[in-house]
Amino acid sequence: MTSKTLPLPKLSGFSERNGIWYAEEIPLIDLAKEYGTPLYVYSKKALTESYEAYDKACMDSKGKRRARIHYAMKANSNLAVIDLFKQLGAGFDLVSGGELARALAIGADPKSLVFAGVGKSAPEIAAALKAGVKCINVESIAELHKINRVASDLNLRAPISLRVNPDVDAQTHPYISTGLKGNKFGIAYHEVLKTYREASRLPQIDVVGIDCHIGSQITTTAPYLDALDKVLDLVEHLKREGIVIHHLDLGGGLGISYSNETPPDITEFTNTLLNHVTERGFGHLDVVLEPGRSLVGNAGVLLTTVEYLKPGVEKNFCIVDAAMTELMRPALYEAHHGIVPAQTKQTKSIVYDVVGPVCESGDWLGRDRQLAVEEGDLLAILSAGAYGFVMASNYNTRPKPAEIMVDGKDAFVIRRRESIQELYSTESVLPK
Ligand code: LLP
Repeated sequence: MTSKTLPLPKLSGFSERNGIWYAEEIPLIDLAKEYGTPLYVYSKKALTESYEAYDKACMDSKGKRRARIHYAMKANSNLAVIDLFKQLGAGFDLVSGGELARALAIGADPKSLVFAGVGKSAPEIAAALKAGVKCINVESIAELHKINRVASDLNLRAPISLRVNPDVDAQTHPYISTGLKGNKFGIAYHEVLKTYREASRLPQIDVVGIDCHIGSQITTTAPYLDALDKVLDLVEHLKREGIVIHHLDLGGGLGISYSNETPPDITEFTNTLLNHVTERGFGHLDVVLEPGRSLVGNAGVLLTTVEYLKPGVEKNFCIVDAAMTELMRPALYEAHHGIVPAQTKQTKSIVYDVVGPVCESGDWLGRDRQLAVEEGDLLAILSAGAYGFVMASNYNTRPKPAEIMVDGKDAFVIRRRESIQELYSTESVLPK
């Protein structure tokens, strides 16, 4: 058995000092003692720093804003996280009526909300129109007509963008690639102009923007520039036809380092895109960016306790109290997350598969990891701030974990642990 010893990502909110891992100023073992495991822990400092990196890069040298950040809350929609971003000046990218309700619950300005998603229902569209969102990103001609009908019933106007499928390969995991013509997302490139013409004829529709999102965990800028060029060609064409585009939404998707990936940093990435927009003569457009993972991914860890060490015939298993129910990414995408003991132990280091208690062989969190651990020890699963808690499930009737936000020496419960009774409190047996 050989270990896949990959480098750890660079983290700003979490660090190891003298063999002890901290969230900002609090040892992770203290948090686990106080709040139990499995436990999600986020660093306010790391969240703030990544937002500020985007925000700074959105300003030009004269202090004029070149772009706005609409945080894609699907990555982590905890109210405390989205409220922090709101306070820092973010708008939001939403993909459901539920996410719209969260944004409104924290008092987000409706004009800072864009509503995306490939299958919006009529009630969701109605809720977005009534709230007065900045824009609905439309993904098909059928959806365009549905929005027009819903707006007409409500006697409201619907501001829209069309989501362009630019047929660009984002070179990422096939499940999170969205800008290829074989993907379900967006309007096929060759049909976009025709659909804008149709949109401009519909009585309740106001064309306000154009949108594109090519995938997630993208680690190079090249596919973005290809997509951007294709979208700007469309804007030029539309202008000649008298259809005016006010904003350009470039989606999210910038990757993070889980171990040895080297994505461009936030500042470099944002500058490259925005400079390209200006160089092509579109500096007047209001640019929207929808980052999710790059804002939150490395600002969170999942803490888990070792339940059993189980030597096997071919593998040794480190069985922990977190599972695919808390962090689904390894099971779903074979994703790699760094795993470290929260406190260094002078014990024998062995190669383990780190697995959960769920009844599925796909329930693993890390494969072939060299770890010096004993039963009862605490492990931290790194880079779990994005698509971690939000993808958690109650499979095997497992309550969802608590979430904590650390700010310096202070820790705040931002979601309490679910109780088992809550999990079946909405169910009923048949009448007897
Ligand atoms: N905008 C749109 C329209 C999106 O569909 C997404 C993500 C984003 C923005 C934010 O992308 P980000 O900056 O976070 O890459 N569950 C997967 C990721 C799914 C991403 C879905 N769309 C994972 O765990 O890797």
